[in-house]
Amino acid sequence: MSHEVVEKNVGLLAILVILVISIGGLVEIVPLFFLTDTTVPAPGVQKYSALRLEGRDIYVREGCYNCHSQMIRPFRAETERYGHYSVAGESVYDHPFQWGSKRTGPDLARVGGRYSDDWHFVHLDNPRNVVPESNMPSYSWLSGSTLSGDNTATKMKALNVAVGATCPSCELYSEQDMANAKKEVEGKTEAQALVAYLQGLGLASKQW
Ligand code: HEC
Repeated sequence: MSHEVVEKNVGLLAILVILVISIGGLVEIVPLFFLTDTTVPAPGVQKYSALRLEGRDIYVREGCYNCHSQMIRPFRAETERYGHYSVAGESVYDHPFQWGSKRTGPDLARVGGRYSDDWHFVHLDNPRNVVPESNMPSYSWLSGSTLSGDNTATKMKALNVAVGATCPSCELYSEQDMANAKKEVEGKTEAQALVAYLQGLGLASKQW
């Protein structure tokens, strides 16, 4: 009988629906306020050096994420192939994160140290020179394009705001870091910055 009352009274039905959705939402949202996994760097995870920060921007600019995820799922088939599954605390310095799910190419979350720098330079210039069957596009212009480092400190400043707001225990860039940024980046090629970025991916996970 009470069910009939609810079904015939739209106002009451609406209130009860809102109540149920609110409780369901709170049960999902509230625990996140007390969970530190997403707001504390995983062991060994450090902020990006100036050069790696520039490399990461090139990765985003060139749309590498369209074919490469950086998200290893906690399944045997994945961890056997790539290494330790991805954890939230690896992404605390990533704004925006590069997790993704599209895998035309392999996941890159653990690619750091897998190949030499020289392998990467040849591969970026023309992937088919090292992997004959590859259908990855060549990014030959990256080795001919030089970075000025003019904006690197500004990027660090912007990242400080994002990281500072989401990760209280993260290390922010100091005035010193920003003052030295241009020196570290100036004159390097975009390919060098991108390879520096790639070579650091997943290094921390090796100690877990
Ligand atoms: C159209 C899809 C596509 C895009 C875009 C793409 N890749 Fe790839 N990538 C692949 C494929 C397919 C492979 C596997 C064959 C090979 O090694 O070349 C690969 C392999 C790789 C590998 C070797 C990974 C391993 O574990 O062997 C690296 C590193 C890499 N890509 C980096 C990049 C970077 C950096 C960019 C952006 C500048 C990029 N890729 C853009 C498709 C792509």
